[in-house]
Amino acid sequence: MSNDVEIEKRRTFGIISHPDAGKTTLTEKLLLFGGAIQSAGAVKNNKIKKTATSDFMEIEKQRGISVATSVMAFQYSGKQINILDTPGHKDFAEDTYRTLTAVDSVILVIDCANGVEEQTKRLMEVCRMRKTPVIIFINKMDREGKDPFELLDELESSLDIHVRPLAWPIGMGDRFKGVYNIYDKNINLFAANKTKISTDIVSLSDINSAELDELVGDKPAAELREELETIEGVYDAFNREEYLSGDVAPVFFGSAVNNFGVKELLDTFVRISPSPRGRDTDLKRVEPSDKKFSGFVFKIHANLDPKHRDRIAFLRIVSGKFERNTFYNHVRLDKKFKFANPTSFMAQDKSVIDEAFPGDVIGLYDTGNFKIGDTLSEGEHFMFKGIPSFSPELFQELENLDPMKSKQLEKGISQLMDEGVAQMFIQQPGNRKIIGTVGQLQFEVIAYRLDHEYGAKCRFVPKNYHKACWITTDNEAQLNDFMRAKSQYLAKDKDGNLVFLAETSFLLQMAEKDYPDLVFHTTSEFK
Ligand code: G4P
Repeated sequence: MSNDVEIEKRRTFGIISHPDAGKTTLTEKLLLFGGAIQSAGAVKNNKIKKTATSDFMEIEKQRGISVATSVMAFQYSGKQINILDTPGHKDFAEDTYRTLTAVDSVILVIDCANGVEEQTKRLMEVCRMRKTPVIIFINKMDREGKDPFELLDELESSLDIHVRPLAWPIGMGDRFKGVYNIYDKNINLFAANKTKISTDIVSLSDINSAELDELVGDKPAAELREELETIEGVYDAFNREEYLSGDVAPVFFGSAVNNFGVKELLDTFVRISPSPRGRDTDLKRVEPSDKKFSGFVFKIHANLDPKHRDRIAFLRIVSGKFERNTFYNHVRLDKKFKFANPTSFMAQDKSVIDEAFPGDVIGLYDTGNFKIGDTLSEGEHFMFKGIPSFSPELFQELENLDPMKSKQLEKGISQLMDEGVAQMFIQQPGNRKIIGTVGQLQFEVIAYRLDHEYGAKCRFVPKNYHKACWITTDNEAQLNDFMRAKSQYLAKDKDGNLVFLAETSFLLQMAEKDYPDLVFHTTSEFK
């Protein structure tokens, strides 16, 4: 098959949600439809439960499982679907943001009773930044929730995106009768069913026909007609281009656990979602159809097997064709590498592949050469953009508790940072290591992994920093003044960039005022 056909077949996306909205359940149902798993319950273990904060064995177990299911590929309706898993726990949000650089579109799951939640907002911000097309699935319609119109308003006002319902619920909770598919003009009647795939679709081209009243009852039928009329009056007709440019999010309703509304979602998804898209580099934009191979690493997993020190780097292919045992250029190191055992991820199995195409994610065994954000190319010297570090929220200084094991600690912390578990800022004098994270759980994971994987013991001392800001300027003299005045609040990030550790937002504002030629950035990518 030609490259173009392979590219057009692929749909690479992520499912995101605030924890508990139903991401895992929906993923599982999609895999059931795709025939990638045979029974419900297979993906469930993939998530780190909220209660796991101190339960490290659980985290370790989860980590092992989550690698196999980090990418789930299956065929559906002539398409090759690649679902990239994103951790739901907020303390691993950074990992989720990075994974979102590797997808071409997103399905956002919302709990119909809770509406837009904290994580929903942050995840949508990341999607908006990249103009990632989003489909919204409003879940748990078998339970009493907010009024659907109210939900749509809430989505628009708090997520700053236009919405367009492509399905509409008939009732909700105990009165939930089914979903009217606006896109296909048919009705799917609700029959709670957790394991089987329900096929109760009744085609109804005219919603004014008496058949609707017979199917769902007079009152719900009248309500549905009225609501559909309102929708057509209020919302513009669905325009795929507006969805693809990230301006409008189509909305579906259903109940993932009951397998309801999921097929409508999947069928529409394969029709409207984008095939693999190009990516920007520091030199030019690279399109999937470009002949030469290129890709970038967005995730690294170390020490999967405690007996081996191997790591797996997850590479998203952007252009050309990747082939096994072929030399490619590792741009940052300017060195050639070939890969004897690249793996693909078909649901829970890993298998060695000979070739892969744009949109695919493959696993490369690595002995420590890759960092997150690295580019592989067929000789060209560009680096993919769009994998920034965000300012952490919590800062703690890492202290070595066993001087005999400093080497192990150095190696361990540096590898964990390559993996993107957290960010490290080095402060002088004394090479002090300030670790920045999004949540407390990350510190616990670091301490546990340093101990269990590297035999190093550490403790963390909280630091009162508010934000880490990367600094740029054209005014050397002002920068030198600033560095003299604030030396105790300065540090270097992993690439040696200067960072200001501001203790409060007030002090940051003061710095901006006192040093007007310095620019303070809260993400590391500002070129
Ligand atoms: P997450 O990955 O987004 O964190 O959510 P997950 O799928 O684990 O779902 C969270 C809870 O919501 C689960 O219940 C799940 O069964 C339930 N759920 C998912 N979809 C629906 C739905 O359509 N309707 C209803 N009523 N519930 C739904 P749990 O009690 O945490 O787990 P479990 O013991 O039921 O598996």
